[in-house]
Amino acid sequence: MLELKYVLITGVSSGIGNDAVEVLIKNGYYVLGSVRKEADVERLKAQYPENFTCLQFDVTNLEAIKKAYKSVEKIVKGGRLKGLINNAGFALGGPIELLEDEKFRYQIEVNLFGVRNVTNAFLPLLKGDKKKKIAGGKIIMISSISGVFNTPFNGAYCVSKHAMESLAEIYRRELYRYNIDVVSIQPGPIESKLWSKNINKYEEYVGSEYEKLMEESNRVIKKAEKNALPARVVSKLILKILERKRTKLAFVVNKNWLFTILVVKYIPARWMDAIFYRQFFK
Ligand SMILES: NC(=O)c1ccc[n+]([C@@H]2O[C@H](COP(=O)([O-])OP(=O)(O)OC[C@H]3O[C@@H](n4cnc5c(N)ncnc54)[C@H](OP(=O)(O)O)[C@@H]3O)[C@@H](O)[C@H]2O)c1
Repeated sequence: MLELKYVLITGVSSGIGNDAVEVLIKNGYYVLGSVRKEADVERLKAQYPENFTCLQFDVTNLEAIKKAYKSVEKIVKGGRLKGLINNAGFALGGPIELLEDEKFRYQIEVNLFGVRNVTNAFLPLLKGDKKKKIAGGKIIMISSISGVFNTPFNGAYCVSKHAMESLAEIYRRELYRYNIDVVSIQPGPIESKLWSKNINKYEEYVGSEYEKLMEESNRVIKKAEKNALPARVVSKLILKILERKRTKLAFVVNKNWLFTILVVKYIPARWMDAIFYRQFFK
């Protein structure tokens, strides 16, 4: 009989998280997946009748996370989580000059504090021991290419994902003694609802100096969506990271990943400033 490997994934109602549930169950994992809405709990229970427990919490709600921790503790019965996949998140567009403080804060609240809330809460189930050679669990951050590269009018999201990259490295260094590895996945466009939730959401900038730029920004999002990769590419990578003892620390996932890496690492920032200026202002 296969030994159950427990993995917790946040934000499994749609997109990458939902696809990862399917891939991991098929590969012998028991998935604890979180959603926010009651309707999603029912839908997912029906979608995954075996080796799956649906947890319900918002990553900004500490009390609800604590409650979920108690139920996960009972399910793993003294065992450990093999992985925690911090996937829940959203993308907020808009010019940094005009973005309302409250919206900017909420972006950071979910994409950064939310990740810390969940990670801290579930750490007791991830800790091994380096000295005693007891394996710890893996933490996988579903970051973004926006965590290593800044695109204008996508600022709040870029800030949140850059901070997430930093958080990943800090956790890895601080949790080394517990044999916990922290790996970051940095996808470019992936087929999901993430960007459509954002598109045409610029009514508040109508009449501002940014009105026309927001239209261009919508065009850029639509173009990116056309080049999107299926969520399955990320799910398979999650599986690979969980299965291998040691992997790279960060993975760029993009159609043209080599080009992306060259742009991110080697194009001087001042050149990029000029390229974006031409794209949006000429
Ligand atoms: N799609 C892309 O192009 C892309 C590229 C790079 C990185 N990513 C990252 O991939 C991750 C997954 O996104 P996706 O593309 O699969 O988009 P998605 O289909 O919109 O999925 C996002 C998930 O996060 C959940 N979520 C959002 N806010 C939450 C909160 N406050 N508390 C708990 N759950 C919350 C959503 O739940 P609800 O259904 O309740 O809203 C949903 O389950 C995100 O972190 C995103 O930044 C995506």
